[in-house]
Amino acid sequence: IPSSNRFSTVSSLPPTYERLLTRYTDVRRVLGRQRLTLAEKILYSHLDNVEESLLTNTDGGRSIRGKANLLLKPDRVNMQDASAQMALLQFMSCNLERPAIPASIHCDHLIVGSKGAEDDLAAGIQTNKEIFDFLESAARKFGMDFWPPGAGIIHQTVLENYALPGLMMLGTDSHSPNAGGLCTVTIGVGGADAVEALVGAPWELKAPKVLGVQLTGKLNDWVAPKDVILKLAGELTVRGGTGSIIEYFGPGVDTLSATGMATICNMGAEVGATTSIFPYTEASARYLQSTRRGQAVDNIKALQSFAGNSTSEDARFQFKADEGAEYDQLITINLSELEPHVNGPFTPDLATPLSKFKDVVRDQQWPEKLSAGLIGSCTNSSYEDMTRVESLLKEAADAGLKPAADFYITPGSEQIRATLERDGTLETFEAAGGVLLSNACGPCIGQWQRQDGVTKGTPNAILSSYNRNFRGRNDGNPETMNFLASPEVVTAIAFAGSTTFNPMTDSITTPSGKPFKFSPPRGLEGPPSPFESGVPSLGVLSQQPDPSVQIAISPSSDRLAFLEPFEPFPDSDLSGLRVLVKVTGKCTTDTISAAGPWLKYKGHLPNISTNTLNTAVNAETGEVNAAYDLDGSRHTIPELGQRWKDRGQPWLVVAEHNYGEGSAREHAALQPRYLGARVVLTKSFARIHETNLKKQGVVPLTFADEADYDRISAGDEVSTVGLYDMLRNQGKGDVQLKVKKASGEEFVIPTKHTVSKDQAGFILAGSALNLLSKRA
Ligand code: F3S
Repeated sequence: IPSSNRFSTVSSLPPTYERLLTRYTDVRRVLGRQRLTLAEKILYSHLDNVEESLLTNTDGGRSIRGKANLLLKPDRVNMQDASAQMALLQFMSCNLERPAIPASIHCDHLIVGSKGAEDDLAAGIQTNKEIFDFLESAARKFGMDFWPPGAGIIHQTVLENYALPGLMMLGTDSHSPNAGGLCTVTIGVGGADAVEALVGAPWELKAPKVLGVQLTGKLNDWVAPKDVILKLAGELTVRGGTGSIIEYFGPGVDTLSATGMATICNMGAEVGATTSIFPYTEASARYLQSTRRGQAVDNIKALQSFAGNSTSEDARFQFKADEGAEYDQLITINLSELEPHVNGPFTPDLATPLSKFKDVVRDQQWPEKLSAGLIGSCTNSSYEDMTRVESLLKEAADAGLKPAADFYITPGSEQIRATLERDGTLETFEAAGGVLLSNACGPCIGQWQRQDGVTKGTPNAILSSYNRNFRGRNDGNPETMNFLASPEVVTAIAFAGSTTFNPMTDSITTPSGKPFKFSPPRGLEGPPSPFESGVPSLGVLSQQPDPSVQIAISPSSDRLAFLEPFEPFPDSDLSGLRVLVKVTGKCTTDTISAAGPWLKYKGHLPNISTNTLNTAVNAETGEVNAAYDLDGSRHTIPELGQRWKDRGQPWLVVAEHNYGEGSAREHAALQPRYLGARVVLTKSFARIHETNLKKQGVVPLTFADEADYDRISAGDEVSTVGLYDMLRNQGKGDVQLKVKKASGEEFVIPTKHTVSKDQAGFILAGSALNLLSKRA
């Protein structure tokens, strides 16, 4: 039976599930009786060509994980406003009428949080009008869904509207795996990857390993789903999930809400995981119902009943791992024994149990005064989170207390905001003196104009329920110590105003002089009646493409610029490269392409490139953002990059471990490429960034022997040996670097690479886009 017709008799199955089941059956047929994890079932059922990927690409389908290059066909692409600009500029240069798969644009990153939702939103719309107009017109022209400013943060909106068990999605944001809380495989990518999917080309991924996290027990009163991932981050560190999908299973899963599972998946990005996923549970069905997607629940029932009744074992699809499926690594967390955690400062994997935090604060001499508590964001603004916080606020209000620190609330979407307003929760927040920010990223991405007089360079402590806490992340102040915790713990500590406060054991003195101790938080998993939609004009969905729409970019714009294609790789190895700078320590995508005020230049490559590596630490001098030209003159790193670009001097960067960790920000690859980088040489890379470099035609290489990091210096002259052959041989072959120092000394550095057949094509063409636009 032709595979496309095999289930055509099952009229109750929607096309998405018919396709899933068809491909899944093919996967089963090819793999035989292998027991599969849930992640594998969904991922492999999205292969472009199951037979080719699983048979010829591996040793007969037996060792796929960590080895095969999967060519995948995602179901949809979701883009946030900062990264959508470059993705759309790239898509536009492919001259297609419409994307090959559904896509949505979410305006969330560009709104500054300051005085409160109403003022901030109006100011944000005015400041970013040019960008929002560009995104809106592109959405109309190409028939994409458009969520304007104020509609919500991408991951919350996606969870509420697009996530559906069994789907595979790409999102141009590293926290896209949030949707794994609703049993989807959702992967954070750069704009260039999104464009591949949008033009209908298969999207390539090295088959991830699967890290199993078995949950047993049930969370105690003060413990939230957030604490699962805060603890796991402490165990795994920021690199521990690299190359893996984290899959949760076990009886503890059934005790969690869908939004709690989403929080846990969201922060899988903090351990470098490719994505995270939970099985479909009763809580998932309840969430679908309350977000007005009862039809999806019926569809899932139809799929399960068809699969369950099938005479073919190959068709018995379930939204959970097969009994006895094997994981590459296994971690067990007993939820009953879990404590609340506080992670940070400056890295999300510095995990401290709440009971020990007071001592650590004092030992480390971290600030005891808390300047601000911030709750919400894409990570933690669910109905459950907010109503648990509400219970604390009400109790504190009854005792006559107000938060001692500034207290901010960011709803994740208009839907959640409107529902909280309807159910009276917002009133409680406002009565407590909380500042309600707009339904946007705001302080989570450095878009925070602080009103408390804390200036840049002033040491201070803040506590948030967000997901990420690199230095300077929230307010651009490198001296702000930013700790992460559950919304409940953030709120209770904000009332005390002290980082040494433990709400489980300590009391606050009320205005009447009595000791007050919080009761454990209590909340509702979801609203008693379905979610409100909120302002009805927010969200332009299912529009047809309109080719007559003109997308105008003013030639004088300093925020948007059409893209010029990068030049192709020369017909030879690279020679005469120079090391622009040797970087030491953490070099995240924030380091390579800072966010905050720079977000406004996301659509203008020349302008945003003036921030390239501007917080990187020079390994040889210890200075931040300093690099030296061959004549010894000192410059900022981007200035020297521009000088060398102007001189036609190609260059490379040398760095340490996990280069490019953090986000899917493709600007971190585009900017160095624009300024003339051809190679990045490191001890190791973060996965997404490494792929992004290749897509922009930059060659990522790692030291075969890490000790060579100490031998190479800024200003050294470097030629590649074997690189051109490797690229022409579709990624096969070794690459060495011939290094010549100013003293005349020469030596060879052996390197490793992960360039695949397709990626070799991208690099040879100059960029993935160069190749795709030729094919389109
Ligand atoms: Fe926005 Fe922060 Fe989430 S930037 S998408 S709220 S991680």
